[in-house]
Amino acid sequence: MGYYGGKKAGPLPPGIADFYSDGKSIPPREMRQAALDAPLGDEQKGEDPTTTEFLTRVAALLGKEDALFMPSATMANEIAVAVHCRPGDEMICDRSAHIVNFEAGGPGFLAGVQTHMVDGVNGMFTPEQVAAALRPKGNLYLPETSLVAVEQTANMGGGAIWPLDMLRGVARVAADAGISTHLDGARLMNAVVKTGITASAYSEGYDSVTLCFSKGLGSPFGATLAGSSEFIQRAWRLRQLIGGGLRQSGFMAALCLYALDHYVERLGDDHRRAAQIASVLEDLDLVAAVLPTETNIVIFDISSDGPTAAELVAELRSQGFEVGAFGLRRIRVVTHLGVDQDDTDRLCQTLETLLTPR
Ligand SMILES: Cc1ncc(COP(=O)(O)O)c(C=O)c1O
Repeated sequence: MGYYGGKKAGPLPPGIADFYSDGKSIPPREMRQAALDAPLGDEQKGEDPTTTEFLTRVAALLGKEDALFMPSATMANEIAVAVHCRPGDEMICDRSAHIVNFEAGGPGFLAGVQTHMVDGVNGMFTPEQVAAALRPKGNLYLPETSLVAVEQTANMGGGAIWPLDMLRGVARVAADAGISTHLDGARLMNAVVKTGITASAYSEGYDSVTLCFSKGLGSPFGATLAGSSEFIQRAWRLRQLIGGGLRQSGFMAALCLYALDHYVERLGDDHRRAAQIASVLEDLDLVAAVLPTETNIVIFDISSDGPTAAELVAELRSQGFEVGAFGLRRIRVVTHLGVDQDDTDRLCQTLETLLTPR
């Protein structure tokens, strides 16, 4: 897989409909106002009332004892890995996982952990694949498996939703082997809204859960890490160690609370728009494949007689749209709070024109 981006590009030209990522929505005025009005205190001392209210809500939502506020889902994931594992240990995850592809080598750098990647389907792997990847215990040559990490929804799997029985099957294999489990639920609420299965049901059997508020939920900042009280105590210390301690964080927690109260149900609009884009793409001659589109992420491959991904990105940019190239011919389109129905209709028309042979 080749990756593009991560380069400083400067501001987008005005008027661009930005389908690159759901991390790119700009917070509306009402959300900003919630931050201005929030009661504040020192989070380091547990004195910030807005952060406390927010974390209490998140822990209850996920069915966990406690939760910790984080600047980003990346930090939440990386701290989870470092709490669950010792240097030299091995973590099982999918080859396409965010934790291995987009977190700058964090498991190796921060936790001394090596990844044992399995080839799932659309970012999801089976309990049998976990069982096969476990290192036998007691062999002095082998690394010790100490963690299995899953991603719900699976970003590079096209926002795929793990079926509940598969998620629980993976957790059961891990529990039987005495190893920890982490759920990267950066987009867990997309799965919840789509299926009606609760966040706590999806989190059951997972020792730690990341939730991100700056994706479809529309906050400009904020993620959480949830787990047992003991796990969160250890995570707190690691967050401190890497300088992630917060102060009057109610300012930011208020944005996330606003998202929880106002922007969960509307994720359904994003799903409908993504499905519309996917169904248009499926009929186009220069599209080789579209991954199954269950939530707000559309991933498709351009056929070999079409433009390259970089060429299509450039052409779309010139026509007022931003999308992502994630490989020579692979494109990702993400719907979110910052793009509306009109943007979606116009993008569909433009894709139809650009991906139909002349
Ligand atoms: C599945 C997944 N996990 C974690 C992250 C990291 O989120 P953040 O940008 O808050 O660090 C992302 C970001 O896209 C993601 O898709």
